[in-house]
Amino acid sequence: MGTQAPTSPLLKVLSLSFTGLGRADCGEGLGETEGQRVVQVGELCLQASPQKPKVPLVNVSLYYEALCPGCRMFLMRELFPTWLMVWEILNITLVPYGNAQERNVSGKWEFSCQHGERECKLNKVEACLLDQLEPKTAFLTIVCLEEMTDMEQNLKPCLQIYAPKVSPDSIMECALGDRGTQLLHKYAQLTDALRPPHTYVPWVVVNGEHMKEDEHLLPLVCRLYQGQKPDVCQPTAHLSKQVHFK
Ligand SMILES: *[C@@H]1O[C@H](CO)[C@@H](O)[C@H](O)[C@H]1NC(C)=O
Ligand SMILES: *[C@@H]1O[C@H](CO)[C@@H](O)[C@H](O)[C@H]1NC(C)=O
Ligand SMILES: *[C@@H]1O[C@H](CO)[C@@H](O)[C@H](O)[C@H]1NC(C)=O
Repeated sequence: MGTQAPTSPLLKVLSLSFTGLGRADCGEGLGETEGQRVVQVGELCLQASPQKPKVPLVNVSLYYEALCPGCRMFLMRELFPTWLMVWEILNITLVPYGNAQERNVSGKWEFSCQHGERECKLNKVEACLLDQLEPKTAFLTIVCLEEMTDMEQNLKPCLQIYAPKVSPDSIMECALGDRGTQLLHKYAQLTDALRPPHTYVPWVVVNGEHMKEDEHLLPLVCRLYQGQKPDVCQPTAHLSKQVHFK
């Protein structure tokens, strides 16, 4: 079994990046006409509507663990598509810890994870990505990893797409060392501080409130945002935004 088959158009867009398309700029085809901003993250070009700067962003925090299927599903099917459509009004916080537990063993934190030792390691890898990369770049790299069956094997190609200057070795060194432990402990504390405490994962908090399991993220974010709503938030909106790879 190789990588998981892409199951939605958006995942297809993501996996396109692995085919090593040309290396033109984001500028072509996605001009700054009509006041649109274009932001480039690795090989991904993102288009944003012009925003009034003072309106607060919608805070979305995802408490999850690297190997939980429901977490991966939420990341792929809800968070990533929503982010692609309205990233300019979102403040996303990833907390890779979930149902893990920690113990103080003679002054050193040790973790046990729901899906075993491998999950603890991957939580640390993701914590290190969040520590060492720009927020957007870290998010995209984590989405890229979580899409894959073998996340460790895919650290290198995922970094190659979004952060080609960062070596996988430096991330692994962080993950396997004291820094990884320190970061995971920070995420343990953030997770333990949840009020009400989480009762399952993925646990999603939007502007301080737990998002119910049967809710969808895009309409919720659209409803909560107090500024001029992006086009995709209009009830009649088609999926008019362009997301493509240079
Ligand atoms: C984004 O969320 C983090 C907490 O997760 C917070 O510290 C930060 O101030 C927020 N940024 C904005 C612009 O709202
Ligand atoms: C962890 O354990 C060590 C000794 O076993 C103790 O000195 C230290 O205060 C403990 N730290 C915390 C945060 O509980
Ligand atoms: C998002 O979180 C930041 C930092 O905690 C806070 O200042 C801001 O008011 C929050 N935004 C909203 C819309 O609640």
